Amino acid sequence: MRLFLALEPPDDLRERLATLADLAQARCGGRRVPDASLHLTLAFLGEVDEARLPALVEWVSGQAPTGGVWRLDRWGSFRRPGIVWVGGRTPDPALDALQASLWDDLEPLDLSGRPTHFVPHITLLRRAERMAIEPLEAQAPVALDWRWQRLTLLRSYTEQDGARYEALAHSA
Ligand code: 2AM
Repeated sequence: MRLFLALEPPDDLRERLATLADLAQARCGGRRVPDASLHLTLAFLGEVDEARLPALVEWVSGQAPTGGVWRLDRWGSFRRPGIVWVGGRTPDPALDALQASLWDDLEPLDLSGRPTHFVPHITLLRRAERMAIEPLEAQAPVALDWRWQRLTLLRSYTEQDGARYEALAHSA
């Protein structure tokens, strides 16, 4: 099963992100991430044997992130998979610390995939046809605060029209 750890936005922020995703799709084309799937990935675990799920659920349920406020103030893109995203201009120490502490726990469990560089981002579009984000910066400058705290373990199902996610466990 394909698993990842993420933060899920509160409803009011989700709505604002959805509006940005609509704007991005109008400009860039591609496949818009559905409202319900908008998230910030902290750790992508990849394919994990189903037998390991109970231990992972217990571990996630025992986490109690301190939380923080992530300032979202930029558009960004990853050219190769045609991803258009929003994120922060400056590193966020609290998010970086959470991501690092998760991998510090996961690596001894033989879960690999720790990225060399963590670029916190919320993917709004995949397979964009036009990648220029400057017009988006001009048309819709991003200025949002995400008050985050709870961590979610999600399962990703690959379906014909994209991925679908299911929450399997939450932290405190
Ligand atoms: P993305 O939004 O940048 O595509 C579920 O698939 C989540 O895990 C997505 O947020 C996706 O990031 C991320 N993800 C998928 N495949 C990944 C990989 N090979 N390495 C790192 N993150 C990945």
